[in-house]
Amino acid sequence: MTKKQLNESVAYLKNKGFDQPEIGIVLGTGLGKMVDEIKNPIEVHYNNIPFFPLATVEFHTGKLLYGTIEGKKVVVMQGRFHLYEGYDLVDVTYPIRVMHALGIQQLFISNAAGAINLDFKKGDMMLIEDHINLQGGSPLAFKNVAEFGDRFADMSEPYDPKMSAKLNAIATREGIALQKGVYVSVVGPQLETKAEYRMLKILGADAVGMSTVPEVIVANHLRLPIVAVSVLTDECDPDNLQPVNIEEIIAIAGETEPKMIKLFKELIKEI
Ligand code: HPA
Repeated sequence: MTKKQLNESVAYLKNKGFDQPEIGIVLGTGLGKMVDEIKNPIEVHYNNIPFFPLATVEFHTGKLLYGTIEGKKVVVMQGRFHLYEGYDLVDVTYPIRVMHALGIQQLFISNAAGAINLDFKKGDMMLIEDHINLQGGSPLAFKNVAEFGDRFADMSEPYDPKMSAKLNAIATREGIALQKGVYVSVVGPQLETKAEYRMLKILGADAVGMSTVPEVIVANHLRLPIVAVSVLTDECDPDNLQPVNIEEIIAIAGETEPKMIKLFKELIKEI
């Protein structure tokens, strides 16, 4: 990845009308409907953006959208790139760097995840307070990383406490249950074994998924404040493990989506 490539991606999007977005939003699996909230949307397919990874995503539409929500200029990723699709970590996080170069000052992230903490139920949402990277690599492990920020990026507070507190207050006010916890990222795409779920619990994880952490590392590298929410789509009980059902995961994400949209919209209004 080079600055020249980033500049070309940004120039293409500016030319399409992506004018100084304030907030970037990443919509996870089964959570793409928030794009219906965008006023005067401009949409660009990932495959048309110079130097974007080529979209092959099965369950995602693969579009970058621009417009306003609650009067604020936003850029929205409908669908993201995953390590399990064969991309590398620099590819997976390229869109975060592009949104930052377009001018965003805050980043909202969503994902679908499994509940490791069995006090949490499918259909719950969880505010991510911290994470564990089990993807076996870093999106900052490339030669010219220092051109983009500190190589040894600080990760002492990866999720912005102010935005997180605000989201929590909104959830309380709106009567929306919001769990809090630690998200662990794995490569996937296979789901976990019973022994792996036991291990993840011992490690201190409350939820497990296959995304988000690389994006959060890069956003921290760029000193971009983040708020992130998992929609819990399955319960990872090693003593009573049900076979995975990806259709059900997507259905549960879809059922919970209106609550997530409400939280994000209210947060956009307030920041
Ligand atoms: N494991 C990993 N990723 C997931 C899960 C899970 O149980 N559920 C949704 N995404």
